[in-house]
Amino acid sequence: MLKNKNIVLGVTGGIAAYKACDLVSRLVKAEANVDVIMTQNATKFINPLTFQSLSSNQVIVDMFKEPKYWEIQHISLAKKADLFIIAPATANIIGKIANGIADDMLTTTVMATKAPVVFAPAMNCNMYENPILQSNIERLKALGYKFIEPSKGRLACGDMGIGKMAEPDVIESYINSMLDRKKDFAGKTIIVTAGPTREAIDPVRYISNHSTGKMGYAIAQKAMARGAKVYLISGPTILKAPEGVQLISVNSAKDMQKRIMEHYDEANIVIMSAAVADYAPAISHQQKMKKDNEKLSIELVKNPDILYELGKIKGDKILVGFAMETQDLIENAKEKVIKKNLDFIVANDLYTEGAGFGTDTNVVKIIDRKGNVDSLPKMTKLDLADLILDRILKL
Ligand code: C5P
Repeated sequence: MLKNKNIVLGVTGGIAAYKACDLVSRLVKAEANVDVIMTQNATKFINPLTFQSLSSNQVIVDMFKEPKYWEIQHISLAKKADLFIIAPATANIIGKIANGIADDMLTTTVMATKAPVVFAPAMNCNMYENPILQSNIERLKALGYKFIEPSKGRLACGDMGIGKMAEPDVIESYINSMLDRKKDFAGKTIIVTAGPTREAIDPVRYISNHSTGKMGYAIAQKAMARGAKVYLISGPTILKAPEGVQLISVNSAKDMQKRIMEHYDEANIVIMSAAVADYAPAISHQQKMKKDNEKLSIELVKNPDILYELGKIKGDKILVGFAMETQDLIENAKEKVIKKNLDFIVANDLYTEGAGFGTDTNVVKIIDRKGNVDSLPKMTKLDLADLILDRILKL
């Protein structure tokens, strides 16, 4: 899959640079053409000759060194790249690129490339958690740069925490999947909602449901893999957001609605897989409620039906809903497609084996505006995500 692909690897000055050697050797074995650009600091950790020997290509460090062949190197490499990977990426390189600084071969080439750029950060945990770095990462993600998250563990400095560069095999498979994907959603912006919402009773308790967010996260992952810009607006879950999507974490239905509206104009497609709570306590108490009474009633008021409201201002957007029922699945779903002005709805019955909350599979029926019902067999949520996206493309 990587055969004849041009991969430019930027190596910056961190101890994880030694892992970049393994990465080059893996990519070369997969028959990719690898060009390595090192920062001056990186050369303090690894000799350029190592990368040169592994890649069989000249390693570039100095912008102004007389080129061996007559091309403006940072432009030619930038154009040639099918993919740009910076591994390890220090806080410094992330900060520089996020702020448009182009003062060496690596930063100028990144600035000049139109290829996808992927960062594999590696650094001390406190540096990684520093809000300055995090806001630089957010900024780059918003511009479409991708990040392969570091893992937790014992770091070179002796600290325990997050900041270990992803292993070369993880980076290789990430590169593989990026280059392999059909980019049929390139240029599209998708909002995917996922998970439950939480409606606060007081600062300690809430009303919610059993949604785990797996379906929505699978859709976000696939949409992102197929080239879309993805806003994943998620209620509380334990899931990790897929690499490259923009995660917006919310609590209540009203929160969710507000955050959707912030990006609605930009979106071409909205997929509401969140299990939005239909009701919220009329009063959310400021202080923890006392258990003085034998009986307690909580007055609930209806939440906004987000999808219904979006349907009123649909325009040429594609709207997809989900419906989970315990009875009269098809009739209920048919009614919702029309009422909420959707293109189609993905309906499942809670009691069907292999469907429902928390499973890795789903068994659904897809119902369109004309009332056509497509009954799908049991499949993984990831496969279903692709299928939903295929259907959207057909529209
Ligand atoms: O009407 P029902 O709750 O069954 O509809 C489910 C669909 O509507 C889902 O796509 C869900 O995300 C969305 N929904 C919503 N706002 C609500 C309730 C559900 O957007 N308050």
